[in-house]
Amino acid sequence: MHRWSVVPRLWCLLLPLLLILSLTLLNYDQLSGDSFLEPIQTSLKCRKLRERLVAMTTMKLADMALFTQVVRELMDCPWRLNLTHREIQRTELWACCNASDRLIVTRQNTHVNQTLSYKTQRSRKKLVDRTLWEMFPRSVPWKKGLLRRCSVVGSGGILQNSSCGEEIDRADYVIRFNLAPINQSRDVGGKTDLITANPSQINKQFTDLQKNPGPLAKHLSVYGHTHLLLPAFSFAFGTAPCFKVYHALRKVLAQQEVVFFHPDYLYDLGQFWRHRGQRATRISTGLILASSALEICEQVHLYGFWPFSHDLSHNPLPHHYYDNVGPNHHMHAMPEEFLLLLQLHIQGALQLHVGNCRA
Ligand SMILES: *[C@@H]1O[C@H](CO)[C@@H](O)[C@H](O)[C@H]1NC(C)=O
Ligand SMILES: *[C@@H]1O[C@H](CO)[C@@H](O)[C@H](O)[C@H]1NC(C)=O
Ligand SMILES: *[C@@H]1O[C@H](CO)[C@@H](O)[C@H](O)[C@H]1NC(C)=O
Ligand SMILES: *[C@@H]1O[C@H](CO)[C@@H](O)[C@H](O)[C@H]1NC(C)=O
Ligand SMILES: *[C@@H]1O[C@H](CO)[C@@H](O)[C@H](O)[C@H]1NC(C)=O
Repeated sequence: MHRWSVVPRLWCLLLPLLLILSLTLLNYDQLSGDSFLEPIQTSLKCRKLRERLVAMTTMKLADMALFTQVVRELMDCPWRLNLTHREIQRTELWACCNASDRLIVTRQNTHVNQTLSYKTQRSRKKLVDRTLWEMFPRSVPWKKGLLRRCSVVGSGGILQNSSCGEEIDRADYVIRFNLAPINQSRDVGGKTDLITANPSQINKQFTDLQKNPGPLAKHLSVYGHTHLLLPAFSFAFGTAPCFKVYHALRKVLAQQEVVFFHPDYLYDLGQFWRHRGQRATRISTGLILASSALEICEQVHLYGFWPFSHDLSHNPLPHHYYDNVGPNHHMHAMPEEFLLLLQLHIQGALQLHVGNCRA
């Protein structure tokens, strides 16, 4: 009888020890981010790559072949979430710009008879009369803290043959740009919760929208139930084309709901990044919605953000995954924005995917 009771007592001593040991190992694993078994050399190499890229202040004068090589090696390093860094970014974005409440104009963040200042001409105002106010949705379509995983899908040629579609669609919320085509291949996926559009392009492509909204509605139907986000209050000349799209889609009871960027959000976010070194005339819609996602979503995954002419193996790329029409280099500084996003990736605030998703 006595001999048997020794065994449980031994376990009483051993179990806590084992628990402490395994917790220590687990913790070490999480702190270092790298697998416990990963050779120390690799982790040293990754640390060097990270330090090197985080120290960069500009892409001007960067040797592209070398930069591409360094990014390629970085993409083989494990990504590490830094909760502290992510929360700092989220809080600062929230305090400055508040996408959670006013990425778009709503009936909650405006009232009848107030005016909205255009984003690019602050002195120019648009009166929000009752008719306009009633065009706005009641509130934003998300609640702070409820979106776990978000995919922000840029249109870069890097998405071609990436096999990223399944991973992109696995998110709770998928943001796309400029009516980019979906469902064409396994590369980009199909889920779309928010998509932006250029209203002048729509009006050029679909003439006489008031009388003939059918073709536009058919064109948009692939996106299913989604929010179509338009810059109605960025430039004064943009208002009428955006309203035309709104009325056309209302007329045919389209599944897509048209919403408008809040100009104050765009203005404040522009200032925010300007103070952090983005000197271009305007920040791109890509950086705008990546910033919104960083504030609204817990995990942000970026795809198709690679504004360079060659992929990580130095093969030539088209401008977009769906065409080869060049961007406007004068307005945006895409390489500088990329460096910013890459640094947020390295610092563990968001995850940038460059290259193949199945690799
Ligand atoms: C996480 O981010 C914070 C704030 O930027 C920084 O001070 C800290 O060193 C980072 N931790 C790691 C493990 O990189
Ligand atoms: C963001 O907007 C919400 C709703 O109006 C408001 O309650 C909150 O205080 C705002 N946050 C900041 C930092 O201004
Ligand atoms: C808005 O202004 C119009 C015209 O001045 C006025 O008739 C209306 O009562 C105002 N509405 C509100 C909600 O203040
Ligand atoms: C993707 O694959 C197709 C077919 O193999 C090929 O023609 C095309 O060049 C590839 N695109 C890229 C960017 O590698
Ligand atoms: C595109 O993909 C979405 C999501 O996977 C799906 O719901 C939709 O039916 C597809 N549309 C077409 C035209 O294949």
